[in-house]
Amino acid sequence: MSIIVGQAVRNSDFWDRKDELEDIWDAIESGSHILISAPRRVGKTSIMYKLLDEPKANYIPVYINTESADSQNEFWHKLFHALIEEDFVSGLKNSTKTFWSKLATIKITKISATGVEFGDGELLDYKTAFKRLIKDLDNDKKLIIMIDEFAQTIENIIQYEETKSSVSLLKAHRELRQDINFSQKVTFIYAGSIGLESVVAKIGATKHINDLNSIKISPLSPPEALAFTQQLFTNNNVDIPDKEVIYLLDKIEWLIPFYIQLIAQEIKRLHRKSPTVTSQMIDQAIENSLQHKQYFETWLSKIKTAFNKTDYLFAKEVLNIISDNTTMESLEIANIATKHALNDDDAKEIMHSLIYDGYINHNDNPKQYRFNSAILRMWWNKNVAN
Ligand SMILES: Nc1ncnc2c1ncn2[C@@H]1O[C@H](COP(=O)(O)OP(=O)(O)O)[C@@H](O)[C@H]1O
Ligand SMILES: [Mg+2]
Repeated sequence: MSIIVGQAVRNSDFWDRKDELEDIWDAIESGSHILISAPRRVGKTSIMYKLLDEPKANYIPVYINTESADSQNEFWHKLFHALIEEDFVSGLKNSTKTFWSKLATIKITKISATGVEFGDGELLDYKTAFKRLIKDLDNDKKLIIMIDEFAQTIENIIQYEETKSSVSLLKAHRELRQDINFSQKVTFIYAGSIGLESVVAKIGATKHINDLNSIKISPLSPPEALAFTQQLFTNNNVDIPDKEVIYLLDKIEWLIPFYIQLIAQEIKRLHRKSPTVTSQMIDQAIENSLQHKQYFETWLSKIKTAFNKTDYLFAKEVLNIISDNTTMESLEIANIATKHALNDDDAKEIMHSLIYDGYINHNDNPKQYRFNSAILRMWWNKNVAN
């Protein structure tokens, strides 16, 4: 395992997420369509790459990131293209003969912004063209179509096309999932760092996704995190006593691989100059890791763009207070809401989305909120609250 910070990890850099992968395979094999929900950088894309690289027999995975699609048509365009892309098609040669020969012989005589003309002269829009391809898939093979950043796509369509369009995309997906023939051939896995549930709730479209099997990606358990961290340091020739690894994990609190990697990278740098890893060195490494603005600022800009001004100022103040005091009692919400001229229901709604999007939780005590990530709390406290 190399130390990798930021990009999704693959192959030998992937620390096994056995439970999550088993959950996902169980859901696939039971015939459900899946929603992978977890805040950003918890490891969703890496898990999907693992499915892509090591599928079970008779499954054909395909991965698409639709983040840049701003309209319904662009979305279907991307989906269609993922299936006729050369790399994908040539990989099918040995696994699904009829589907492969169909894909390989499609002559796209004309590709326009709105549709595609097949060799036989039929002009199809991308959605219809996509469905037509699926029809030709062998019965004994199942496609796993992984759509990353799907909720972002829905948000883009609301913003740049129109709400109606995003509802119609959600509906079209629901219809496909309910079509028995289609569902025998395709499993959809939707993923994304913003909660699809909260995006569709805003546009009153929850009923179009309530058939999805939602799978959560949790942080590592303390023993898993310990094993992961020890292996990461060993593989990178950093000699670190177990008690310092435990010290590090205590500081990180929310044990997602990302924060471990981020700080491990800084420890590795410091370790070059002074080969004994101490608690002070770890503190220094954490300080240094907070300099990587790009990993933290998105948390601030997300609430700035997703909320209107009043909601944003309320959310920011809540997070500021939690970052100052480590925790905040739920009783305080009403006071802060009053200050921002928000009613209780709206304030609760905002607290929900902060929980949903992975900022805070009240898992230990329902009446008390805290940051998920101690590292994000430190950054927030230094750069936003003060
Ligand atoms: N299974 C894993 N093994 C090792 N590192 C991981 C793993 N999953 C995530 N990471 C770390 O977290 C970062 C973000 O992972 P990614 O899969 O892109 O998350 P997401 O898609 O949820 O935003 C990676 O750059 C890496 O540092
Ligand atoms: Mg991702």
